[in-house]
Amino acid sequence: MSANPPEAVYDLGGLQELSARPNQLGVVGWPVRHSISPAMHQAALSALSRTDDRFLDWTYSAFELPPDDLEEAITLFHEKGFRGVNLTVPHKVDVLPFIDEIASEARGMGAVNTVVFEGDRVLGYNTDGYGLEKALEEAFGISLEGREFLILGAGGASRAAVAQCIASGANRVTIANRTIEKAVGIADRFRGSESSCILDAVTPDELGGLIRAGTIVINATSLGLKATDHLPLTVSDLPENCLFFDMIYNPSLTPFLEAGRDRGYPVSNGLGMLVHQGVKSLETWTGRPVDAAVMRAACAEALSTPS
Ligand code: ATR
Repeated sequence: MSANPPEAVYDLGGLQELSARPNQLGVVGWPVRHSISPAMHQAALSALSRTDDRFLDWTYSAFELPPDDLEEAITLFHEKGFRGVNLTVPHKVDVLPFIDEIASEARGMGAVNTVVFEGDRVLGYNTDGYGLEKALEEAFGISLEGREFLILGAGGASRAAVAQCIASGANRVTIANRTIEKAVGIADRFRGSESSCILDAVTPDELGGLIRAGTIVINATSLGLKATDHLPLTVSDLPENCLFFDMIYNPSLTPFLEAGRDRGYPVSNGLGMLVHQGVKSLETWTGRPVDAAVMRAACAEALSTPS
């Protein structure tokens, strides 16, 4: 016997009709029906239930809810005995007012991707930075401490990456964004922190000569999701040995990664980040070690199955 199979995608009406029961989990997004998180978490729950039958009735479902439904949904999840939920676009920031206790890493990032219902309290964590750090370690065999980073983009994904790089002891973080004010806003936000990390904000066309060899370049823009997207930077502005990490995992090879590969750089897409943030969320909810390989295999299968 294994954990329950993934449920259909619920809307607010579907959530209202769900029976109250412990050990329910889910992901909340708008849209969310193409998320591979349910497949990834169900596979990990099935693996846990093979050695511990307390996990047999745990479920992880998808909830497609617009921003206006978020507050009511958090109340409903809590009332119905949910153990926790993941939040994805566009809810990670909007959920903050509905959280009783925000963990320090989530406070630094200004966003919550993992909610835990603990008694009468609603707790908020962010596992995205952990996922990014583990993925970089795994892909490139490096630690973040003492390294230099170029982070492309200045939205929520970029802010989480900057926060993690600083928390992990980066020497320098350069934020490059089309809209310079947003890059400056992130740099200013973190410049006041206790770290000695050097922060710069530039536009992508100001990069020539600025970036040093060995820099880890992270694409945290949405450029690359569509086949027609242009590159987020001019790769020839960079020195020869950089490392390229794209937070995008679908498609698995973006123009950014292709350009890096053509230049001879080590490259990695964002699947490892998705997997490791998922591992950390599930470990937080269950209190058990979770096998990243099981989650990765489930993701690979879900991505190869036409939706
Ligand atoms: P997320 O929360 O996932 O980070 P977001 O806040 O919408 O998403 O941020 C998207 C990022 O991709 C932004 O940095 C955006 O640049 P702007 O701040 O200038 O809008 C970047 N981006 C999206 N489309 C782009 C494009 N066509 N050219 C350059 N940058 C783009």
